[in-house]
Amino acid sequence: MSMTEFNVWLDTVFVVLYGAVLLFLAFHFFMGIVKGRARTKFIEKKWPEHDHAPTVGPKLLHATHMIMMVVLGFTGMYIRFPYFQGGRVAMRYVHYFAMIVVCIILVTRVWYAFYSKTRDWREFAVTREDLASTLGVLAYYGYFSNKKPHVAKYNVLQKMSYLLFLVMMVLMAITGFSLVTTPLLFGTSPRDWIVGWWLGSLVGSVDLAGWYARSLHYILNWAFIIMTTIHVYLSATEDIPCTLDFFGLKPLVLTGGHGHDDALSAETPVPPGDEVLPPSLVPGS
Ligand code: HEM
Ligand code: HEM
Repeated sequence: MSMTEFNVWLDTVFVVLYGAVLLFLAFHFFMGIVKGRARTKFIEKKWPEHDHAPTVGPKLLHATHMIMMVVLGFTGMYIRFPYFQGGRVAMRYVHYFAMIVVCIILVTRVWYAFYSKTRDWREFAVTREDLASTLGVLAYYGYFSNKKPHVAKYNVLQKMSYLLFLVMMVLMAITGFSLVTTPLLFGTSPRDWIVGWWLGSLVGSVDLAGWYARSLHYILNWAFIIMTTIHVYLSATEDIPCTLDFFGLKPLVLTGGHGHDDALSAETPVPPGDEVLPPSLVPGS
């Protein structure tokens, strides 16, 4: 299969896969209605109880990062499929600007996690206890159980996805910079530094190495689109007060402090180890 055929195949596979993901999420939401979870959350406004309030640093970094990722996805897709006339130069510059911003955010967030006063890398470390809770978390999301094991700030699937996001961002930056062919130092470009010297000699030419990098960048682009869609779906359905809080919007939208916590805890004391859905959701009640 030639590189061009491979890339056409990628377009088809990912468009179909993305459609399947959207259908699956719609089905998941529908199951939420059938099982009564949507009613409890969106109509009765009872949300899971949690004991943490996100700090300003990660909130600001995440919000900026989120905007930049949308810009990168939009401009990146335009670079591949120029879906309107005359934007080539501008869209490239915007992609270049946003890519520098996300790289700075990436370094800052990792620094924050390990070296700041409020370092939080432990929140992302997958422990034995987390692993032991995996089946319980899957059972909760699959509607087999109404108890979501609560062993840390983030559940095990969140931790794993956030770590995967980190790995993907690093790969995105590496493959992205290897698409830059402008000579910047002694007539050599970032493509020569990153892939040209080793992959170029392995596959026969620096150009072909660039194609490999471009294809991986594109595959990761879809991986981001899919993962971010699921991440947004879960943010919007699992715990809206927490999401509002994370974007600094909670005081604007919800009044009365921990409104959601009160609503839930007034009826259901939370036993240690589990986030429990209100009695109305427990089968047979
Ligand atoms: C993290 C740092 C990133 C860097 C350094 C980077 C860099 C680049 C560069 C240099 C190009 C080629 C532009 C050109 O032809 O002039 C490109 C293309 C592209 N980028 Fe990025 N980018 C980054 C992140 C992202 C992200 C996060 C996404 C999507 C969510 C994305 C999606 C794309 C797409 C779809 C293309 C077009 C690929 C193709 O033509 O097949 N990029 N990127
Ligand atoms: C596009 C819209 C997005 C929305 C609405 C959103 C929403 C959220 C929310 C509500 C949380 C807090 C979860 C909690 O505290 O329990 C969160 C955390 C997080 N999100 Fe997103 N997110 C978005 C995009 C992204 C993207 C594109 C990435 C990565 C590429 C990302 C990576 C993360 C990570 C790593 C965390 C962990 C907390 C932190 O970084 O401080 N998010 N997101």
